[in-house]
Amino acid sequence: MTSVIGNGYRRMGLSPLSRRLSAVAQTVSEEWTLLAENIPMWPELSLPPVNLISGDGHYDYAPSQGVDALRVALRDRAAAQGADIGIESVLVTNGAFDGLGLVARQLSGSGVRRAICGGPVLLSFADLLHAAGLEVVVEDWEELIAAQGWASLGLGPGDLLYVNTPHNPTGACLDDSTARALLAARERQGFSVIFDLVCDSFVFDQAVIGTPLPLIRDWQGVYAINSFSKNYGAPGLRIGWIIAGQAAIEQLTIRLEWERISVGTAAQYHAAALCGHGNAALVERVRAGRQMILDWAAGNNIGVGAQQGGVQAWLNLADSGGSDCEDAEDFADKLMMKHKIVITTGANYYPRAAAWFRIPAGVSEAVLRDVLPMLAASWPSRNTARRN
Ligand SMILES: Cc1ncc(COP(=O)(O)O)c(C=O)c1O
Repeated sequence: MTSVIGNGYRRMGLSPLSRRLSAVAQTVSEEWTLLAENIPMWPELSLPPVNLISGDGHYDYAPSQGVDALRVALRDRAAAQGADIGIESVLVTNGAFDGLGLVARQLSGSGVRRAICGGPVLLSFADLLHAAGLEVVVEDWEELIAAQGWASLGLGPGDLLYVNTPHNPTGACLDDSTARALLAARERQGFSVIFDLVCDSFVFDQAVIGTPLPLIRDWQGVYAINSFSKNYGAPGLRIGWIIAGQAAIEQLTIRLEWERISVGTAAQYHAAALCGHGNAALVERVRAGRQMILDWAAGNNIGVGAQQGGVQAWLNLADSGGSDCEDAEDFADKLMMKHKIVITTGANYYPRAAAWFRIPAGVSEAVLRDVLPMLAASWPSRNTARRN
């Protein structure tokens, strides 16, 4: 299926996720179980102390490209993944969304007109691309990326291909041969590629790759976006990074300077310390939570997404035998009212995946143990069955 946001007017609004969270904020006296965000949570926060170089960092502007300590840590992270890049190829941003916005505006300003995305994509990301002046075309991830549908689109210099791997929400991941074919086509045809790798630590299937970075020989037109939000469970730091060719990083650094001068100094040193600490405990928590959810889904005959990676489970309400209530928004409303559980549904994505919702895999086992039976008890087809 192809969905297109053309160049017409689009009403601005909060995402469905934010609307649910602001409803929650108005009734703080209630005890909510918040599963709306998709953030892995550290089991025990025995994280390293941070050595700030001067004071607490609040009294200095950081360099626009980012502090050296963090760019060195990120270069070393890439090296551990098998990629050989220098710190001149790294730009620190205010999270991945900031990086995506910078690249989208930069490409739009240099003549790119169309963004073709493996979807569904986050609604806010589709809006971001559209606001950058791009026509947004979203094709099903499996058809466009895994089945190499991009190969028949005649992509050229006016096009951007957006590849999120592991894919939020389905959990599908790039495999080695697809990544190689895509990079070769990019070199031949001159389109741009964004790899959105914000969950690259969380890959659980040996048939796929965690990151395409080691396969990239020619960085012309290639942008890898990453972040501490999921990979290090630290969305509040608002630290992300872009890896790209040196000339592209120079241009993006100029744009970053004129748009926001630099990213917060203290947050960058915290991020460098977190990167050095590593995220093994977080990855293990997501692995265990994901397994628990998948076992529960299999036991309850519930359809799931590809689930090769990612930090969430993507669950299909409609797969469980048909029902009179397949709209995940109705289901989410019911969970909020009856059980004080807040989830995010397919309405948060473009195109809207009406019968789907997600739950984060990186929460504690105790939370999942409480919540999963309540989800099963509220499942529409079960209610239908009970009535019959
Ligand atoms: C695929 C994808 N890209 C980017 C982001 C943005 O992450 P950040 O918090 O680093 O801006 C998210 C956050 O949910 C995401 O899922």
